[in-house]
Amino acid sequence: MLTVLLMGCAAENGTRAQATDSERGKTLVAFYSYTGDCRQITETLTGLIEADVLEIQPAEKGLKYDANGYALGTQLLNKIKAKPNDANSYPPIDPVTTDLSVYDNFIIVTPLWWSQMAAPMQTFLFNYGQQMKGKHVAMVVSSHSSSIGGVVADAGRLLTKVTWMGDALWINSSNRSRTASLATDWLNTLNFKKRNMETKKIYLTVDGTTRSVTLADNTATRSLLEALEKDAITYEADDYGGFEKVGGLGRSLPTSNERITTVPGDIMLYQGNQLVIFYGSNQWSYTRIGQIDSATADNLKTFLRAGQGPVQVTLSLSTPTAIDKIRAKADDDNTYVSLSGIRSTRAVKGIYVRNGRKTAK
Ligand SMILES: Cc1cc2nc3c(=O)[nH]c(=O)nc-3n(C[C@H](O)[C@H](O)[C@H](O)COP(=O)(O)O)c2cc1C
Repeated sequence: MLTVLLMGCAAENGTRAQATDSERGKTLVAFYSYTGDCRQITETLTGLIEADVLEIQPAEKGLKYDANGYALGTQLLNKIKAKPNDANSYPPIDPVTTDLSVYDNFIIVTPLWWSQMAAPMQTFLFNYGQQMKGKHVAMVVSSHSSSIGGVVADAGRLLTKVTWMGDALWINSSNRSRTASLATDWLNTLNFKKRNMETKKIYLTVDGTTRSVTLADNTATRSLLEALEKDAITYEADDYGGFEKVGGLGRSLPTSNERITTVPGDIMLYQGNQLVIFYGSNQWSYTRIGQIDSATADNLKTFLRAGQGPVQVTLSLSTPTAIDKIRAKADDDNTYVSLSGIRSTRAVKGIYVRNGRKTAK
């Protein structure tokens, strides 16, 4: 299995810099995809960062680049190779109507064809690369297995006077199933981290004690935030395997599962509708939800009452307030209010105030 994931990005004609400023303005992900891999990579990227998307489309539709032993693909690349400075060498693409001048960062997502950049993406960079001058550029290359040095060289030839944000990310058949975590790590090395939701916090209350959680940024956490904006979520969780507290959320969230080795404090979505909070470690297919802040194996065991059976877990957007601060009128709406002041439309085991009355569930 290939473990080398990143290739040096030779930008002979451009400068190369690790930007330190995370507030770099607008980002455009420009992708071309023939069989769908780069489309999927683009979807993953835009689930992780705020970015607009531009799809490069060949002007001539329905071409089979891979037919007859990849004959057409080969022919297009040979034409470019013979005269790389001649606009006629590049297969026409649909005109790009997106105003590139409003973007500060470009992420190019391209397939590799015969160890070169796929011809339609080369056309895009040849025709529009001038408009990226002085901007920050990063690249993701998708191949079956061939390494991406030739694509990096093509990018260096076609994009001059750009600032490369970092090394290109190489996705291939060996690591494709881990695209989400590879892209997350890669984006972090490009300092995109602070621009996404890494800093978004929610609160986790376990049997009355509350800790903050830093959320991951994905469709599951966005969906969770939407739900929490309406109401806190309370559910019951129990020990499993000597390393986690797990319980059904009472709803499903969108998954982007991948094989993850968890560490104490990790919060994962399991099978789309169960939340797993780790005080130990496990390796399984999960969607990352977040990390309990300042977690250590020891303080988590106390917080999660590890090994002590069912606990009541509440997820909320703000720190719960004490019950004596809650006005009775505000609670006359069938809402369950726990003894630590957490409001929810659903209650699991415990004592609540509902419509001004103490009630046990
Ligand atoms: C014309 C053509 C040539 C290709 N040449 C190679 C190659 O030399 N090495 C390789 O590993 N993959 C090669 N591939 C496979 C693609 O790089 C790979 O499937 C990629 O993930 C496709 O991305 P897409 O689905 O977004 O089009 C080629 C594909 C095509 C269509």
